[in-house]
Amino acid sequence: ASTLGAAAAQSGRYFGAAISASHLGEQAYVNTWGAEFNSATPENEMKWDTVEPNQNQFNFAPADRIVSQARSRGMSVRGHTLVWYQQIPGWVSRLNGNDLRSAIANHINQVAGHWKGQIHSWDVVNEAFEENGTRRQWFVQQRLGDGYMEEAFRTARAADPNAKLCYNDYNTDGINAKSTGIYNMVRDFKSRGVPIDCVGFQSHLSQGANLSSYQANLQRFADLGVDVQITELDVGGSGSAQAATYRTVVQACMAVSRCTGITPWGVTDKYSWRSGDTPLLFDGNYNKKQAYTAVLDAL
Ligand code: XIL
Repeated sequence: ASTLGAAAAQSGRYFGAAISASHLGEQAYVNTWGAEFNSATPENEMKWDTVEPNQNQFNFAPADRIVSQARSRGMSVRGHTLVWYQQIPGWVSRLNGNDLRSAIANHINQVAGHWKGQIHSWDVVNEAFEENGTRRQWFVQQRLGDGYMEEAFRTARAADPNAKLCYNDYNTDGINAKSTGIYNMVRDFKSRGVPIDCVGFQSHLSQGANLSSYQANLQRFADLGVDVQITELDVGGSGSAQAATYRTVVQACMAVSRCTGITPWGVTDKYSWRSGDTPLLFDGNYNKKQAYTAVLDAL
């Protein structure tokens, strides 16, 4: 196959990109997305501060633009994200107890309900673990305890029963304390029937990243009975070292049958969130980089 999406589709996988509604007016951006990718993740447009800036006032229009363009091209869409400690409006942080609990449930019901049937996978909870494998002590954890996570998954399942429900995090690119903490939570969820279908590995990497246990880590999660996805891939650096790191990640996903898709965190270096770096597959002029060829060969 001659494009990333078509190559991934040969093995039943998707190959997506984080997409920003603010660039949809740029022809080269839209053309590269449409030509090479078959999935999209709204980069910011589904986050709490955008979709519900004031309590029970919803703003779906920016993400709707991405979802409708993606679906009209036959692409799948990842939902990102329902519960996260960042990009969350101040009104949420001023709630406590049952008010906080019901605001989270209402948020999930309204947001997942709005796109019901249109989302391949939802990042239900994002970045809720510390590097040492314990729960992140953010205000929802402190006020509601561990149970907020399984409540979020149960609410999301009821709101959009056909979406795959994922836990998503970073610095989980091997067998380490953080990935083991998440692993233990997933194992517990599976044993108690809490609805979880997938784990997302963001994989914001540097070109020298040690990936010696990357594949084994994906496999141990898959062996729990969940899919795994590479959800926010980018690799700092350039040239052959960058390409080699991309190749290792893609080869690991291809070697794990439950690794169902890969999403770099953007289309072009021009708009990467890692400003000053060049971590994506297309350069600022939408030319294919060495990393692109390495990925296409590995798919
Ligand atoms: C980033 C976006 O790319 C930026 O545009 C925004 O300013 C901050 O958030 N982990 C995540 C993503 O789960 O949502 C983050 O996206 C990058 C880190």
